[in-house]
Amino acid sequence: MIIGQINIEKPLLLAPMEGVTDLPFRLICKSLGADIVYTEFVNSEGLVRNSGKTHKKMEFLEEERPFGIQIYGGNPNSMQRAALMAEELRPDIIDINCGCWVKNVTNNGAGSDLLRDLPRMEKIIRNVVQATRLPVTVKTRLGWDAENIRIIEVARLAEQSGAAGLTIHCRTRSQAHKGDPDYSWVAKVKEAVKIPIIVNGSIGTPEKIAEMFDSIGCDAVMIGRAAIDNPWLFKQARNFLVTGTFDAQPSIHERFDILLKHLNLSLQFKGNTSGIFEFRKHYAGYLKGYPNAAKIRMELMNYTEFSPIANILLEYKEKLIKNIESAEIITQQAAAT
Ligand SMILES: Cc1cc2nc3c(=O)[nH]c(=O)nc-3n(C[C@H](O)[C@H](O)[C@H](O)COP(=O)(O)O)c2cc1C
Repeated sequence: MIIGQINIEKPLLLAPMEGVTDLPFRLICKSLGADIVYTEFVNSEGLVRNSGKTHKKMEFLEEERPFGIQIYGGNPNSMQRAALMAEELRPDIIDINCGCWVKNVTNNGAGSDLLRDLPRMEKIIRNVVQATRLPVTVKTRLGWDAENIRIIEVARLAEQSGAAGLTIHCRTRSQAHKGDPDYSWVAKVKEAVKIPIIVNGSIGTPEKIAEMFDSIGCDAVMIGRAAIDNPWLFKQARNFLVTGTFDAQPSIHERFDILLKHLNLSLQFKGNTSGIFEFRKHYAGYLKGYPNAAKIRMELMNYTEFSPIANILLEYKEKLIKNIESAEIITQQAAAT
């Protein structure tokens, strides 16, 4: 896939996710094989108002490249100004959110509301493209609802307005995150336009990622929620794409090492209080499937300092390892008798 200066074969992208794809999580995914990462969506009105908090969401490190800033808004002039502000930070891509289903976004004419007003979507894309020399991509859905699938029109409009790529979350706005994505639209869109098509929506295993490239015919795959539970998915999928074999699941040691590394990054970039609080949503993913994980998560919520949290996690890790060892001994004994 070629977008601007980026040229990667079968790239695996981390989806923009509000409250999730902050700098620490992006660094973790990058270290585990994500090819391109994005900020969460950044409000163009917040940027125009000069909100420091909004501006901070665009900060990144060189090691994150290739890196995209995603902006959203319903006002073409604000979006143009936001693109100028994003460009100053020199990301590799500016992405326009035309897919968010959440009411307080669509009520302001932003996100997937643009699927109900294609002339305004076009104006926004053109304004952003004019504002920057960086490649501009668009992330959207199939349409507002099943009766109004507009993706072919949207793809043509995006390409003609100068977009360098299009991500399709293969659901409608009314589906939100529910129901099956319809990937069959990817092939139809590929016939209609030449820009790279990035497929997204419930793609959570190496086999499914391979299917997207081999059968669905996309240029890139974007992974969202599956990366929260399993940031190793990028590495696992790359190995599967290259060798056709499966990586072993990360060991308990590896899982806890990455968990603690992630927590440390959170503290480093957000300070003690926010670092601990904002990290809480990640425990569920890292501890998924382990016995008593819910109880441990509840216990972790009582603490606002690093050391008691690290102690609980390390004790828990030791217990898990001992449980596995004793289960292995029992299995070996049973096999020997
Ligand atoms: C917690 C959360 C926050 C999200 N925030 C954004 C966002 O800021 N910008 C965006 O384009 N999509 C956002 N999305 C949608 C994802 O990027 C993605 O399109 C969607 O989750 C489907 O992909 P998945 O099934 O791989 O998760 C968000 C999704 C979740 C679960």
